[in-house]
Order: sequence, then C-alpha cells, then structure tokens
Amino acid sequence: MEKFQEALLAWYRENPRSLPWRGEKDPYRILVAEVLLQQTRTAQAIPYYHRFLARFPTLKALREASLEEVLKAWQGAGYYRRALHLHLLAQEVEALPRSYAELLKLPGLGPYTAAAVASLAFGERVAAVDGNVRRVLSRVFALENPAPRMLRNLAQGLLPQGEAPGEWNQALMDLGATVCLPRRPLCSECPVAPLCQGRVDPGRYPGARRR
Ligand code: ADE
Repeated sequence: MEKFQEALLAWYRENPRSLPWRGEKDPYRILVAEVLLQQTRTAQAIPYYHRFLARFPTLKALREASLEEVLKAWQGAGYYRRALHLHLLAQEVEALPRSYAELLKLPGLGPYTAAAVASLAFGERVAAVDGNVRRVLSRVFALENPAPRMLRNLAQGLLPQGEAPGEWNQALMDLGATVCLPRRPLCSECPVAPLCQGRVDPGRYPGARRR
C-alpha cells in the first residue's frame, strides 16, 4: 500500500485546496472549522467560520459570551446543537486537551472531530474518517457497507510513517471532496485509480449509508 500513500500525497501536494483553515495551528480555530464541517459543506462553511471566529476569536471569548450571543453568531449555519456544544465545551475546559482520547470526551466531539483536531492541531497519529474518507476507502478496497469501526481500523493502518498525520487525513478528505465524488467520480483524474478495486463499479461502494 505504500504506492497508494505516495500517489495520494504527491497529488495532494500538487493540488492544494485553498481553505481558510489549511495551515492553521490554533487548535480552537481548527475545532471550529471541523465542527462546522460536520454538517455543512465546505463552501458554505467558510463565511460562518470567519464570522464566528471574528466574534469569538478564542476559547476564552467563547466562554465569556452568553449562549444567546453564540447562537446568534451561528445563525444560518444550521444544526444549532453544534453551537450549544461549543459553548458548553468552552465552560468545561480551560484549553483544548491534546489527545484524541481526551478530545473524545468533550461535548459534540465524536470520533471524526476528535481525530481531526488531534491530528491537525496536535500531530497525533489518528485517522479521521468522515463521509468523504468513507467513500474513498470503500471504493479503493471494494467495501460494501463497511462498519464504522472497521473503517477506522483500516484508515488507522493506512496512516503513512514519517508523514504529518493531519496532512494525510486532509489528503483523503480532499480526494473525496474533489475527485472521488459520490455520483460521478472523476476516475480519469484520480491519482490512485490504478490501485482502486472499486473503479469498475464505483457506484456500488460504499452502498447504503451507515456511519
Ligand atoms: N472536511 C472536514 N474537514 C476538512 C478539512 N480539514 N479539509 C478538507 N475537508 C474537510
């Protein structure tokens, strides 16, 4: 599988998407981006990301705000539970914990978000499996309806040695978001097409939704 990793990383380096949280180092800002991206598409999430962070630039600012103010800043982004959780989380911790296991205990953070923050902000070797990554891996390995834990294990095993895990996670996400599209995947542009077992019938994988 080294070929898979090399091909995908080379592609990612040559095709960087310019997203406002790319290269971000502040764990809080990464968290806000990832919470928004849980249910909001990238292009839609960008203005809310800027607006929310302009209003609450730090965890401390968020902590000191009223819930009403926080909900107001979230207005339009939808799924208000996410804003509620962020506000609650700001009350619970002084600073974001640095490990996947601790992040997972925070309100509103499931395995995906905890892994995204742990890998992007703190460099922990943990795979972040969102809907895009699920689709990519299901196709590459011809998996129909893979169970979430199985997928996380598979993704964990694919993390390349000696590479920044956050880069790898985002490379997989970007491939899913721009090439390995749900309906009409652009296999002719895909850097890992020669290794993909699902290529003959990509529509078959991952099949029914189960996350
Ligand atoms: N989707 C969720 N988080 C993402 C990220 N950091 N980069 C690209 N797509 C994403």
